[in-house]
Amino acid sequence: MSHLLRSSIAQLGRKTASRAMSSSSPAAADTWSANQYSKFLGERTQPSRDLLARVPLAQPRRIIDLGCGPGNSTAVVAARYPTADLAGVDTSQDMLRKARETLPGVPFDLADVTTFQPPGPVDLYFSNAVFQWLPNGTRLEVLQRLVSHLAPGGVLAFQVPFNMTEPSHRAMADVAHAPGTPWEDTMRRAGIKRDQFPAPIELYDGLQPLCADVQIWCTTYFHVLENHEAIVEWVRGTGLAPYLTVLDDAQREGYLAAYLERVKEAYPAQADGKVMLPYPRLFVVATKSGA
Ligand SMILES: C[S@@+](CC[C@H](N)C(=O)[O-])C[C@H]1O[C@@H](n2cnc3c(N)ncnc32)[C@H](O)[C@@H]1O
Repeated sequence: MSHLLRSSIAQLGRKTASRAMSSSSPAAADTWSANQYSKFLGERTQPSRDLLARVPLAQPRRIIDLGCGPGNSTAVVAARYPTADLAGVDTSQDMLRKARETLPGVPFDLADVTTFQPPGPVDLYFSNAVFQWLPNGTRLEVLQRLVSHLAPGGVLAFQVPFNMTEPSHRAMADVAHAPGTPWEDTMRRAGIKRDQFPAPIELYDGLQPLCADVQIWCTTYFHVLENHEAIVEWVRGTGLAPYLTVLDDAQREGYLAAYLERVKEAYPAQADGKVMLPYPRLFVVATKSGA
């Protein structure tokens, strides 16, 4: 990556850091833990491989991994495009620390995707499991702005979990707002609200006018986990984090125990004692017009 791009991203990261810290995403208080997230890194990284396989670019010059996390998705991109000018950005300092350890040759900087401005046209914006964290109602606008940064023929490729109606995620909110619990008031005050990502028909209508081609598909992964506790561990690294952060230790313990019970009811054990976690994910590869 060029020195110019590196220093521009670093500068932008500093400018956007204060905004990132005040956003409603879990990155606001850096609730991300690279160690917790990395517990299921193989499963979490597979969608980035499946996404990258559908990117129709032979030799993109400038690539940015938006919401690079611990650098796992960046490593996948680096392996396919070893000579590209590749950088990663994220709002979590803990994730960035881990990413720099993972790929010391790649610049990783603090920046918020909602305000990110690249120093020049981008050939590939890659983003695995990030845009679902943007505030409701802003996502399509952010995606359109990112397409506007692309070079002619450039690609915005992203994947998001499409699981807000899955039992694992419904249970988070149900348990949070169950009446008569010691955490009920705290959760009501926290007002945690997350909703499903815009539907494929909305994404298509929002991106198609700016693009020559928009590919959208959904894949449900069936992750086989050791036991029900592993499902709780999995979501502790992502969707459960905003709920756990607002609770004190005693409330957190009670909430987690109640959540585990719901998980046990929703996901029966397999014959070998393991538990299957169905995980739908939505993929988009949008190619800008004008190649
Ligand atoms: C689920 S992790 C994905 C990490 C990695 N891309 C992967 O493939 O596993 C989501 C990442 O998005 C980052 N993130 C969330 N909101 C963001 C924002 N507005 N701007 C930049 N990064 C953000 C988080 O800090 C976290 O590292």
